Amino acid sequence: MELRDRPRRLRSDGVRPLVSETRLAPTDLIAPVFVDATADERVPIDSMPGHERVPIDEAVARVEEVRETGVEAVMLFGIPRSKDERGSRAWAEDGVVQEATRRIVAETDAYVITDVCLCEYTDHGHCGLLEESAESDPRLTVRNDETLELLSEIAVSHAEAGAHMVAPSSMTDGMVGAIREGLDGAGFESVPIMSYAAKFESAFYGPFRDAADGAPAFGDRRHYQMDPANAREAMREVRLDVEQGADVLMVKPALPYLDVVRDVRREFDRPVAAYNVSGEYAMLHAAAERGWLDLEETALESLLCVKRAGADLILTYFAEDVAPRL
Ligand code: PBG
Repeated sequence: MELRDRPRRLRSDGVRPLVSETRLAPTDLIAPVFVDATADERVPIDSMPGHERVPIDEAVARVEEVRETGVEAVMLFGIPRSKDERGSRAWAEDGVVQEATRRIVAETDAYVITDVCLCEYTDHGHCGLLEESAESDPRLTVRNDETLELLSEIAVSHAEAGAHMVAPSSMTDGMVGAIREGLDGAGFESVPIMSYAAKFESAFYGPFRDAADGAPAFGDRRHYQMDPANAREAMREVRLDVEQGADVLMVKPALPYLDVVRDVRREFDRPVAAYNVSGEYAMLHAAAERGWLDLEETALESLLCVKRAGADLILTYFAEDVAPRL
């Protein structure tokens, strides 16, 4: 038999790197960091081995650890010292993210991105102001338009503290436009917005909700986060954010939604981010702990594939682990 095409010719060790289509670099990665205003020492997060909530006093040290691995950007999440109905600690000048941001920006070279949301700050755990009837009528939870003003205020307070980029994650309709207007009005025209543009209502967020203490007290997030069944709707969501001025478009979670990552890459001429979420991290750890999977190899392969699908940047809890290997 005569075979002309033998793809195996290009798989020998010397040539593989030459024909490799995708390369992952530490500078593609963003490491999430949890800062906890209620902690006075580092608290390990059980469901996310290797991650911890750090007190404000440790925020700079924590970010330096990240930087030492070659990862240059962090995404800050805050656990406030107290919660209320409106989530007012989210935009407080001395709030946990604001305080940590000020210190990190002053003392490190990290690129600081802040999560703009209300769920960690409200006592009910939803990502916005509640409808009066929310508890009795689970079809209605958050008041969309009234929440916009608060999101804008949060984003401006983060920018005032020195945040380099803000990342709204509440899936409030109109959030990107409202935040852009707020930032521009306050003189922060050059602070970009990375929008959680297609964020799905996903069971893969479980470990994060423990980590950031942001699980809804009742009901769920299905009225504002997207139905996992919908990829065409994701394009509509993303388009709205582009029209409102989003600079970077995020798809979240990553691995179960790589088709969406690919679609966004093809359809929009903007950087695409993918969030390799807490559940994606936890499940590899759980399997590795049992000896069923090789942690490092599966982590690297996962991130490489997220990039191959079309992501330019990846938010991942594996950032520090894989960066030194790249
Ligand atoms: C807050 C927020 C969540 C995540 C990031 N920002 C939780 C949620 O929407 O329930 C999840 C991140 C992860 O699972 O790693 N809105």
